[in-house]
Amino acid sequence: MTKKLYIKTYGCQMNVYDSERMAEVLEGYEQVESPDGADMILLNTCHIREKAAEKVYSELGRYKDLKQANPDLKIGVAGCVAQAEGEEIMRRQPMVDLVVGPQSYHRLPELEARARAGQKALDTDFPEEDKFEKLKRRPKAQRGPTAFLTVQEGCDKFCAFCVVPYTRGAEASRPVARVLAEAEELVARGVREITLLGQNVNAYHGEDGGETWGLARLIRRLAEIDELKRIRFTTSHPNDMEDDLIAAHGDCEKLMPYLHLPVQSGSDRILKRMNRKHTAASYIALIERIRAARPDLLLSGDFIVGFPEETEEDFQATLDLIERVRYGAAYSFKYSARPGTPAAERPDVAADVANDRLQRLQALITRQQRAAQDAMVGREVHVLIEKPGRMPGQMVGKSDHLHAVHVTSDALDVGDLVKVRITDSGPNSLAGRLL
Ligand code: 5AD
Ligand code: SF4
Repeated sequence: MTKKLYIKTYGCQMNVYDSERMAEVLEGYEQVESPDGADMILLNTCHIREKAAEKVYSELGRYKDLKQANPDLKIGVAGCVAQAEGEEIMRRQPMVDLVVGPQSYHRLPELEARARAGQKALDTDFPEEDKFEKLKRRPKAQRGPTAFLTVQEGCDKFCAFCVVPYTRGAEASRPVARVLAEAEELVARGVREITLLGQNVNAYHGEDGGETWGLARLIRRLAEIDELKRIRFTTSHPNDMEDDLIAAHGDCEKLMPYLHLPVQSGSDRILKRMNRKHTAASYIALIERIRAARPDLLLSGDFIVGFPEETEEDFQATLDLIERVRYGAAYSFKYSARPGTPAAERPDVAADVANDRLQRLQALITRQQRAAQDAMVGREVHVLIEKPGRMPGQMVGKSDHLHAVHVTSDALDVGDLVKVRITDSGPNSLAGRLL
């Protein structure tokens, strides 16, 4: 009998991708939308900020009744909290049967069998073998028009605040041939837009018969797949933005005019303490070069406020940088000390000061985001239709610039790539008329 698997995913898009692959590798299970009645619950966790890890423990607490009602229910923790805390999770929450780190997902079937046999199963190794090669090929069923494809994992940058180099390990790239094969498969299943993923995706260095390909070459090759209409990539580090990738933004039509390029702070003093290895000026100069290649590029970024020893002057420098760059979207976070990272040893900025800065920064970003969205009104854009909207006859998709666009038409199907005139800009999305 088919067992029921419920996966709850936290954190970044790489976890979304990993959850799909975990569901595929666990044979004999079908994925369900609710933990009630599930035979296995898997939390795919994130460790990037303190709140993210705490959420996992409170979620586990909620499964107590389910476990009591069904002693055969197995509970697993995957992802970066699993990697960072390992056995500690089972100590803190004894009803957890299985703990698996991000580099060991291909070993899930064995771990599941062990858990079924009533043993505790733990694997947080960084094994030699490539988990993606060992993971099953993806099934052939039709799927939605957009997909994530992880091409790179891990990080060697060691920003002073960040746990990723410890939880995801060193930078590693998947071989070119495997990425291409997976992309072809996705396209055969109906995918029209692929977002290439990596913690440092623009540091991609994939092997191909003794040659090494960078991200730009991979993108250009993917663009040759006829039925693949759009390519995106995320997340990038400014220091890995090589010339050919900048050029690709100008000359590769399928590469969308959107770039997520986190800077974290606009103060050189803080950037240095963060170990970012770039300055505010070098970041701005880089943005100017990318915009010269692709003038309508929409930029997004990540910011941390309240990093240890951040003064009001440092914070002002961040606001100044945001004013100069003009972002179309941004994610901002209050600094959260992560155990084991160098910054965790340093004195914290007072919580009320950090909260106040976060609010001011978010107000500025919201204004910029709204301005970028409003500027689309009257323009002709391409929209890839993703799903029906809430209103009858309405469909929703994304523009090249990743804005959500509502289109009212009876003639549209999921997966259509259509030309639309933007007529209106709402709080979180645009409305358009089919051309
Ligand atoms: N505290 C707050 N934000 C963090 N990020 C990473 N580590 C921390 C931390 N310790 C943010 C960075 C990164 C994004 C994914 O999460 O801005 O780019
Ligand atoms: Fe973390 Fe910095 Fe690596 Fe990004 S570049 S994953 S912020 S260490």
